[in-house]
Amino acid sequence: MGMLETRATWLAIAIFFITVVATKISRRKSNVHPSSTPLPPVVNVLTLLPSFFNNGFWVTINDLYTRFGAVFTVNLLGPKITLLVGPEVSTHFFQGLESEISFGNFAEVTIPLFGQEVLYGVDPATRNEQVNFIVDVLEPSKMRSLVDPIFHEVETFFAKWGQDGTVDLKHELEHVLMFISCRCLLGYEIQETMLEEVYSLFHELENGLNYFSYLFPYMPTPTNCRRDKAHIRLKEIFSTTIRSRRSSGRVEDDVMQRLMNSKYKDGRSTTEAEISGIIMALIFAGKHPSSSSSIWAGAFMLSNTKFLMAAVEEQKHIISKYDNQVSYTALLEMDTLHSCIKEAIRMRTPSQMLTRKAHKKFKVHTQEGKEYHIPAGHNIVIPTALNNKLAHVYSDPHVYDPDRFGSARHEDKVGGKFSFTTFGGGRHMCPGMSFAYLQMKLIWSHLLRNFDLKLISPFPDADLSMLGQEPKGKLMVSYKRRRLPCS
Ligand code: HEM
Repeated sequence: MGMLETRATWLAIAIFFITVVATKISRRKSNVHPSSTPLPPVVNVLTLLPSFFNNGFWVTINDLYTRFGAVFTVNLLGPKITLLVGPEVSTHFFQGLESEISFGNFAEVTIPLFGQEVLYGVDPATRNEQVNFIVDVLEPSKMRSLVDPIFHEVETFFAKWGQDGTVDLKHELEHVLMFISCRCLLGYEIQETMLEEVYSLFHELENGLNYFSYLFPYMPTPTNCRRDKAHIRLKEIFSTTIRSRRSSGRVEDDVMQRLMNSKYKDGRSTTEAEISGIIMALIFAGKHPSSSSSIWAGAFMLSNTKFLMAAVEEQKHIISKYDNQVSYTALLEMDTLHSCIKEAIRMRTPSQMLTRKAHKKFKVHTQEGKEYHIPAGHNIVIPTALNNKLAHVYSDPHVYDPDRFGSARHEDKVGGKFSFTTFGGGRHMCPGMSFAYLQMKLIWSHLLRNFDLKLISPFPDADLSMLGQEPKGKLMVSYKRRRLPCS
């Protein structure tokens, strides 16, 4: 090969390499600062502080939505939070793969609550298997067998009320839901002997779910310390029961037993710590949003005579149809009651915001035809409380109107798959939704059939210091026993 050819060959190789490297660099760059699709408008958190302090969090978020539209980013002096408002831009959030978008470290707050051995304390593969155990335990087909035990708890609880009187309905509903959760999810050994202790320990655990603990889950504040003590004691109680069942070979027909029998794909059995952690998570997930939802359902129904009367009429009709028996089928037919509860949790959703971390870039398309590119690394928030009140999805969104879910309007569906996200949606949709409605409908069906109720305290404000948007203060209600005539 002559000198000229050698040079030409080296030149060709060099050009080839330069082209490959340049292409790689430009591709890599295009991953970071992609194409022509714009990033969402960005607002600096410092400029928002006056509004946060003067008008509150939700007014500020609403203002940003009015100013920027469905997609905008808040720059927290480095970390970025992108808000996606409305069903049109929510699909990837709910349906994206775990490798593309996940809970990230938002769920860290649950580790001190339920333990290092379960859910967000473990790797995603193990967590998926544990969530499958939960889905299996709570699947709608298993709900039929829960009607009688829940009904029994509800009847026994309200039998303690007199002929007439005044109660704090918030306190009463919280208690009855705790009894229901324990009855359905714990072993009978615990339910019969340690219910009061378990109840107060859960109260301490719940107090650990506030905004401060969310931001600083491990700071040794008095609330966090009480939460940690409660966790240790609950684990001790559950583990003792599991150990005693395992050593005696005793087998029960309950959720604890089903979790004890669950096996991972590699054949490994669940450990005491895992079963205890999952039960804590279930009771927690079950009791907390369900009690807030039942209380709001009561507050709204008792403040709206038209819908209260409609729900009572429905009870009259159904009890006469089913000979005064509250069966699973009868509950499925209580559409008015169902809509009354659903509308209450549209207006006061216990899950005000859902959060994820984007691990890969993705695009969203707004209703107005705009397209945005959301970079990897952004924290993503769906503000459910705002989504549930969007005027282009719900007519008169600030008015309590359970009829909006009826067959004539279907407002929770016409706006798209993710219009009503009080129970989330897609990949992490709440597996406890059927159980939640079952217990709430059984309670309210019982109250409407057996008592004439009147709200005597003012309609409650929402306690915005708690993540669950609970009603603030007491919910005082006067009651008088009655026997509803059949229609
Ligand atoms: C009114 C009552 C309830 C409401 C409003 C509610 C709401 C939600 C929401 C919004 C999510 C999804 C969170 C997200 O995507 O970031 C969720 C997940 C979950 N819920 Fe519920 N929930 C309720 C009752 C229950 C009950 C009764 C149970 C169990 C006994 C339960 C167990 C769970 C579990 C285990 C998850 C996690 C699912 C996963 O990560 O894949 N929930 N819930």
